[in-house]
Amino acid sequence: VRPAAVLRREAFVATVPVAVAALLAAAGPASAGTGGASGVGDPYFPLAGNGGYHVDHYDLTLRYDTGSRHLDGTAVLTARATQRLPRFDLDLSGLKITGLTVDHAKADFRRDGQELVVTPHRTLRQGEEFQVKVVYRGTPKQVTDPDGSADGWIPTDDGAFVAGEPQGAMTWFPANNHPKDKSSYDITITVPKDRTAVSNGVLVGRRTAHGYTTFHWRQAEPMAAYLATATVGKFQVQQYTTRDGLHVYNAVDPREASAAAPVLKKLPSVLEWESKLFGPYPFRSAGSIVDKAESVGYALETQSRPLYDRAPDLSTLVHENAHQWFGDSVSLTSWKDIWLNEGFATYAEWLYSEQHGGDSAQKTFDTLYALPASNDLWAFPPGDPGSGANIFGTPVYARGAMALHELRKAVGDRTFYRILRTWAGRHRNGHGTTAEFERLAEWESGKSLHPLFTTWLYAP
Ligand code: ARG
Ligand code: ZN
Repeated sequence: VRPAAVLRREAFVATVPVAVAALLAAAGPASAGTGGASGVGDPYFPLAGNGGYHVDHYDLTLRYDTGSRHLDGTAVLTARATQRLPRFDLDLSGLKITGLTVDHAKADFRRDGQELVVTPHRTLRQGEEFQVKVVYRGTPKQVTDPDGSADGWIPTDDGAFVAGEPQGAMTWFPANNHPKDKSSYDITITVPKDRTAVSNGVLVGRRTAHGYTTFHWRQAEPMAAYLATATVGKFQVQQYTTRDGLHVYNAVDPREASAAAPVLKKLPSVLEWESKLFGPYPFRSAGSIVDKAESVGYALETQSRPLYDRAPDLSTLVHENAHQWFGDSVSLTSWKDIWLNEGFATYAEWLYSEQHGGDSAQKTFDTLYALPASNDLWAFPPGDPGSGANIFGTPVYARGAMALHELRKAVGDRTFYRILRTWAGRHRNGHGTTAEFERLAEWESGKSLHPLFTTWLYAP
């Protein structure tokens, strides 16, 4: 069995019963009148993201003092107004703002919970490009998710474990904090010289002076804010280029190094296997960050370079790297479609096992299918987990994967793998919805699949 894979996530099964978020969302985003809305309209996270603009690029310059846990930051956002904007919101949780300009002119702002409400010195025109610069500082405070887990800037004994799914990006930079908006990033982090700061994409520069080292990372392909990281610690670094020309950067906590080594060694072959199955790897860099922080209790598919809170097992490595296609390159437009991330990454684990001498996907499916109705697996349907408290619940992962297995059986292997590749290719560095996936599956197979999707994703 792989109940291990199921149980691993059991900690995140619903603990908060009522979908307060959904009730709030029904009332509509708060500042929808004249300015940009305070959220993108996600019923699970009504204040996540903002309306009225798109961020093209984030340029973040950070300095982290690992002793005092103090963060100094400057964020320069290059954005485009999608409507007339007398004011607009950013998401920022905690931290103190010491300066804010729009197009180099001082702007008014006020804080209201996670909303940073900005009133530029003049109204922005629809279609206009503008630049927001926010200077801020303070001790970042992680956020507690509806399921009780923590995310954001999480301090460790030697630095910080930085993982933002679903809400945590706003704990360390002002963001349009929803996967609907994807942007390129330059992330520059200065840390004491015995520490390493690891982020997404390519390391474009590194320089040490006066006891501090500055790391400059560039994520050129579009990325959702929750997938950004700036993890700091004492790490052993390993860099190499794969046969396919992919640049790999691994940063490993020395305490986890011997346990991680045999698994990380498999990264190139896992990525090769996944590329054969899902189509070309979507980014120009890859790697791993292993940062001992076991109280975190999860790993995250931080873009191009997944982040693990301990030495990962092979299945977890397969899972987080499968997310590079499903979740990172093809992003959600709404958190309720989370099975498009977790169901797919879990099914990748099953396929990996099947094709590498382990249990077949059918066997894994059968074991799960035999679980009694009282098991968490059947607690709610994966296609609409009901609230932010359930988005990382067992059904999203395991029943989401079961839905894909049923699809595979209905359309046959050849068509199934073509559907996966076409999905990853057509929506590459973009977005997808469950309805679009269903339409694609019907188109590619010539079959009517609505009853199958309805049963596996939405029926109790
Ligand atoms: N997407 C991650 C994974 O399954 C899980 C993230 C869980 N995050 C959280 N705040 N509980 O690979
Ligand atoms: Zn996952």
